[in-house]
Amino acid sequence: KQTRVAVLLGSYRAGSLNRRIAEHLRDHAPAGVTVDVVEGIDAIPFYNEEIDGETAPAAATALRESVAAADRVLAVTPEYNGTMPAVLNNAIDWLSRPYGQGAIVGKPFAAIGATPTPYGGKWSHEHARHSATIAGAVVVEGIVVDEPAVDGDPLQDEAAVRRFLGALDALVAHEVEAAA
Ligand code: FNR
Repeated sequence: KQTRVAVLLGSYRAGSLNRRIAEHLRDHAPAGVTVDVVEGIDAIPFYNEEIDGETAPAAATALRESVAAADRVLAVTPEYNGTMPAVLNNAIDWLSRPYGQGAIVGKPFAAIGATPTPYGGKWSHEHARHSATIAGAVVVEGIVVDEPAVDGDPLQDEAAVRRFLGALDALVAHEVEAAA
């Protein structure tokens, strides 16, 4: 059976370092693993309970369907002002509702990425893990790649590429506990 990994980006710009890392993982995923880089998250309105339910925006419904169909969720994100970009935070909010039944509930989750600074987006990844936990995801312990892409392109650095592919492997290898 294929293991499907839904990737949520924290940056939807065409030249994004993090988009390029995610697309590299998609294009070099091991056999048995399908990586789906979820598009359109940047078109979802900010979460508001009054527009959820029957009237949920189509872009939010599409996000929920992509994650519901996935076996794992991987955020690949830069850091904005010491936390995750709002576009990713908003996606987690939409995925956390309806309360207790959001599409992210019970999904193994990891958050990785790169920024052109010495800390590599560490706070963003920590905060994404924290928020996903509260939303009901199962954060997989020990998957930490905060890549300081200070020289530009992390994909030109073989060791960095191995770290990103290793994170994908660890997320896929995580054993999902059978429901009691
Ligand atoms: C940044 N950047 C940034 N980097 C970082 O490591 N810590 C931070 O707190 C911030 N804050 C921040 C705020 C805003 C509004 C922007 C636009 C940028 C720099 C950021 O990491 C850099 O622009 C990355 O290249 C953005 O990621 P993508 O788009 O290349 O994936």
